[in-house]
Amino acid sequence: MQFTFTKAALPKTGAIVIPVIENGLGDGAFAALNEAASGSLARAAKAANFTGKKDQVLDVIAPQGLDNTRVLVFGVGAPKTFGLEEAEALGGAICARLLSAREKSAAIALEGFAPGGIEADVLAAHVALAAKLRAYRFDKYRTKLEADQKPQLAKIAVHTGSTKAKTLFAELDKVADGVFLTRDLVSEPPNVLYPESFAARCAELEELGVKVTVLGVKEMKKLGMGALLGVGQGSARESKLVAMEWMGGKKGQAPVAFVGKGVTFDTGGISLKPGPGMEDMKWDMGGAGAVTGAMAALAGRKAKANVVGVIGLVENMPDGNAQRPGDIVKTMSGQTVEILNTDAEGRLVLADAIWWTQETYKPKAVVDLATLTGAMVIALAHEFAGMFVNDEKLCEALLKAGEATGDKLWRMPLVKAHYEMIKSDVADMKNIGGRDGGSSSAAAFIGRFVKDGQAWAHLDIAGMAWSTKDLPTSPKGGTGYGVRLLDEWVRQNYEG
Ligand code: BES
Ligand code: MN
Ligand code: ZN
Repeated sequence: MQFTFTKAALPKTGAIVIPVIENGLGDGAFAALNEAASGSLARAAKAANFTGKKDQVLDVIAPQGLDNTRVLVFGVGAPKTFGLEEAEALGGAICARLLSAREKSAAIALEGFAPGGIEADVLAAHVALAAKLRAYRFDKYRTKLEADQKPQLAKIAVHTGSTKAKTLFAELDKVADGVFLTRDLVSEPPNVLYPESFAARCAELEELGVKVTVLGVKEMKKLGMGALLGVGQGSARESKLVAMEWMGGKKGQAPVAFVGKGVTFDTGGISLKPGPGMEDMKWDMGGAGAVTGAMAALAGRKAKANVVGVIGLVENMPDGNAQRPGDIVKTMSGQTVEILNTDAEGRLVLADAIWWTQETYKPKAVVDLATLTGAMVIALAHEFAGMFVNDEKLCEALLKAGEATGDKLWRMPLVKAHYEMIKSDVADMKNIGGRDGGSSSAAAFIGRFVKDGQAWAHLDIAGMAWSTKDLPTSPKGGTGYGVRLLDEWVRQNYEG
């Protein structure tokens, strides 16, 4: 879809979209267009009891006196409640409506629309961003789509008085590309996306100036990554570790690091998961997907910061060669782990990936993302990712980036008691801590592989990587959660 920003008069063809505040039909674009339409818009509003209340929509098809296909009026409610989040919800809702109405082109009338405290350029750019994000589709395996099932909407013109909106959008557009990459990765079926093919997708980021290194089993064996390798040993697909470096900041300055869980399919292994719903475990690489998308976003907009993204890629399968409950593995850190449940595999992958990341890059901060525990979904549903963090400044900064982007976080506890839960009788630790506080004991496990003094945050995104219903800026399916969060966190803390 193509987005333009213009100060021109509203077009005489296609759809026109006008947002209005409550009781705001008397002025702005609505009033002007109503006059051209001989008052028919106001009559329609009256007949529909439309006053501009939040979430009210007035759809005037083939309006009298105009050649436009329709005029869509979106109520946004009281101006003082209108901020960035509402602007994006509006953009997403507009796009969804235009798509279902099968419009080909639309103009959004934002000139003079300035509710609340939000700046005109920010408003215009984020309405466009949200529309773009909502229009995402993953259709590549639908070979029988009829012409009338394919989306029509090709052009959105944002009519705004702002001159800066276009430049702002150009940056956000790169972030949206990163979100789309993550959604693509998360949506791919597990027979297509496995460690090696995932690594190949990462290698494509070299075009953006990202340095990509891929380690195979041989290299990882040499490094002593017994935990990550143990998870993948039952799979016919070779495990991989991918490092993506974007060094857009000062030469020689330590980077910040993202580490992602990339289990391309999680059957549970020998501790096999139940059949119903197992297909969901194709998106158990959502953390790695978010890290990859974030690297694409940062490189795409040429972020002035040093950032590395490391992802551990494995497939967790039951097999004659699979790891067993009772196995003891040795991690790269030298610590040993008693495997009591082969379905608690994500933490094993992260243990070695995080250790390697610290040894290799001495990062200023480590943020890991993982679809780690079902318990996280029980606790926070699909509203927040859980954040376990050992550094107050890092905590504040991530919460702030979450608020700014809508990729919301909720801080969870991680204390000594959680570390006690993973004590083993036979090894340095065990890989499960029991049902109670399952997300915190999983975080504690990862914490055992974080070096003293290393600022670290663990984001459990199990409830966020996939959505079974449409969201304001994301159609159902892969959400791309985490890309905007990480991008914004880098923007606010490491650039400029
Ligand atoms: N990938 C799952 C967690 C998950 C569950 C993500 C549902 C998204 C939706 C993870 O590997 C897992 O199986 N965790 C177990 C841990 C348990 C065995 C300690 C869980 O949460 O049940
Ligand atoms: Mn599992
Ligand atoms: Zn898993």
